Amino acid sequence: MPTPVILDCDPGYDDVFAIWLAAAHPSVDLRAITTVAGNGAIEHTALNARIACTVAGVRGVPIARGAAGPLAQELAPADWIHGANALGGVELPDVAMSLDDRDAVALIADVLRTADELVTIAATGPLTNVAHLVQRHPDLLDRIERIVWMGGSTGRGNVSPYAEFNASTDPEAVAIVLGSGVALTMVGLNITHQALITREVRARIRGIDTATARFGADLLERFCSTYDAFGDMPDGPLHDPLTIAMIVDPTVATTVRARVDIELRGEHTRGATAVDLLELTHRPKNATVALELDVDRYWALIESAVAALR
Ligand code: BDR
Ligand code: CA
Repeated sequence: MPTPVILDCDPGYDDVFAIWLAAAHPSVDLRAITTVAGNGAIEHTALNARIACTVAGVRGVPIARGAAGPLAQELAPADWIHGANALGGVELPDVAMSLDDRDAVALIADVLRTADELVTIAATGPLTNVAHLVQRHPDLLDRIERIVWMGGSTGRGNVSPYAEFNASTDPEAVAIVLGSGVALTMVGLNITHQALITREVRARIRGIDTATARFGADLLERFCSTYDAFGDMPDGPLHDPLTIAMIVDPTVATTVRARVDIELRGEHTRGATAVDLLELTHRPKNATVALELDVDRYWALIESAVAALR
């Protein structure tokens, strides 16, 4: 049986590939796509999710708009990486579907309430929508199998020395989710920086030569050029689809159980995840943390998904 999945995202170049992998993989039953402000303002991320589906011919999955900003601070979009509209520098089609009437949290709640099985939430942006769900619908949390979140890091950050963008955009939301008791898998920068979009990967995806592949190759080239300019990484990392890859193929990454906390106050470390890999704090383990990527397996999943779409 395919795993029922809700994808909460902030597209964003790499989120688009998470949408495509979730829509195309036979082991995923994609029940909803919900959007959150992060890489761009909510108007852009909600539009970009529909663009991702339009390009790839994904139909019939409800797409909802969620939180316009973090719980306790102003949104600071990642426009230096993703551009002013969060999919900068590529030609965008008109969208072929409208937004769901419900907001993101209402849609997630409806999916959880009506599903016959437990539902997995893949989150590839700030955890704002998921935190609102925890606060508004505590009665539905036992309907969640687990949350697989791209965010945080066991080591370095990408917006400050220790803080990763999704964690740093809404640290209070991370604290609420960590405290919710729902099983959490953290897919942090420490592993997504192993998923480098090399020249060979870009060429293979362009070579698939479908509408989805050509659009995807344009996104990847743009992503790599902004990572080169701002992150000194000419082969940028394809972060977000690793959440879906881990749902469909647990062998794509090694994991460890660990204590994860989020720094809310540090002068230089607000938004950093403290991942106690060495069990120094003796505090209860509250997360599964992804560590080592099977790079070839990962790209095989991505390329098959792109090839399966139109
Ligand atoms: C994360 O931040 C966003 O810019 C990407 O889409 C990814 O979710 C990486 O830090
Ligand atoms: Ca993202």
